[in-house]
Amino acid sequence: MTDRPRVVVTRRLPKPVEDALSALFDTQLNADDVAMSAEELAGAVRSADAVVPTVTDKVTAEVLGADPRRTRIVANFGVGYNNIDVAAAKANGIAVTNTPGALTDCTADLAMTLLLSVARRAGEGERHLRAGDWSGWRPTHMMGTKVTGKTLGIVGLGRIGQAVARRAHHGFGMRILYFNRTPVPQDQIADLGAELCTLEELLAASDFVSLHCPSTPETRHLLNPDTLRMMKPGSFLINTARGDVVDEAALVQALAGGTIAGAGLDVYEGEPAVTPELLGMDNVVLLPHLGSATNETRIAMGMRAVANLEAFFKGDPPPDRVA
Ligand code: DGY
Repeated sequence: MTDRPRVVVTRRLPKPVEDALSALFDTQLNADDVAMSAEELAGAVRSADAVVPTVTDKVTAEVLGADPRRTRIVANFGVGYNNIDVAAAKANGIAVTNTPGALTDCTADLAMTLLLSVARRAGEGERHLRAGDWSGWRPTHMMGTKVTGKTLGIVGLGRIGQAVARRAHHGFGMRILYFNRTPVPQDQIADLGAELCTLEELLAASDFVSLHCPSTPETRHLLNPDTLRMMKPGSFLINTARGDVVDEAALVQALAGGTIAGAGLDVYEGEPAVTPELLGMDNVVLLPHLGSATNETRIAMGMRAVANLEAFFKGDPPPDRVA
C-alpha cells in the first residue's frame, strides 16, 4: 500500500518520463503500448487519482462520468486536447492540463518539411528513384514550385503558427498572411510583417496555406468544398493541426480536379485511417502524425505532464490547466 497518488498512463512514454512518474507517484505504465478501450479508460477514472492520456484516447463524458470516480486530474500528453470532453471534465470536477510550448519548434519544423516536400516533389522524387525509374538529370525533369519569396497563409497564428511564420519569413523570405479569431498583438509578431486577413482573402492570395488552429466545433471542416474552391490556383495546403479541420473527401476532389496543386498532411480525419484516394496521389505528402515526434520534444511534453501532476497534488495551480 502507498499513499502516493495513483496515476494511470495510457501509452508507453519516453523512459525518462516514465521514470519521473514512477519516482513521484504510484504509477501504472502501459508496457505493452496497446491502446486502452473505453471500458479500461473508465476503469482508470474509477481507480486512479490521475490519468495521463494521449491524442488517441477518447476521454469522453462516459469515461469521465465513471461511478464511483476517483480521478481528479487528466494530464494530457499533448497540446491539443480535443480528445477530452472538457465540459464533462468540468461537470465532474476533474481538472484538465495539456503540454503547450514543448512541441512548438518541432511541429513548426514538420510543417516546413511538408511545405518544402510538396513544393519540391520530394516524396514523389524519392519514390521515383527507389523504383529504379531515374534515367538521369535532364532540364525538364520533375520541376516543382519555388518557395522563396512566395506568400504563406497561416490559419491560426498561435505559438506554432508563429513559429512556422518565423521560419518561412526569415528563412525563405515569404510574405505572411494570417487568419485568427482575434488579431495577434503587434509586439508578438512585429518581426514578421504578418497581415491579418479574412479567411477568404487569405485563401485567394496564398501560394501555401498552413493550418495551425485547434480542433473545435467552429473549425471542423473549415476547409470544405466551398473554401477549397477559394484557394489560389496552383497553391498547396499543409495540415499539421488536426485532421477534422479539413473535409478529407473534399480535399481529394480539389486535388483530383486540379483546384489546388498539392497537399502535405500529418493528420487525418479518421486517423490512423487515411482516405484511400490520397494514397495514390503523387502530389500529396503523407506523414503519420509526426509533428512532435523527436526525442527531445516527447521527453519535454512528458515532463510538462509530470510538472502539472506534481503541482496539482501539492495543492498548487497546475501550470498548464485548461479546465
Ligand atoms: C499534440 O500535442 O497536440 C500533438 O498533436 C500530439 O498529440
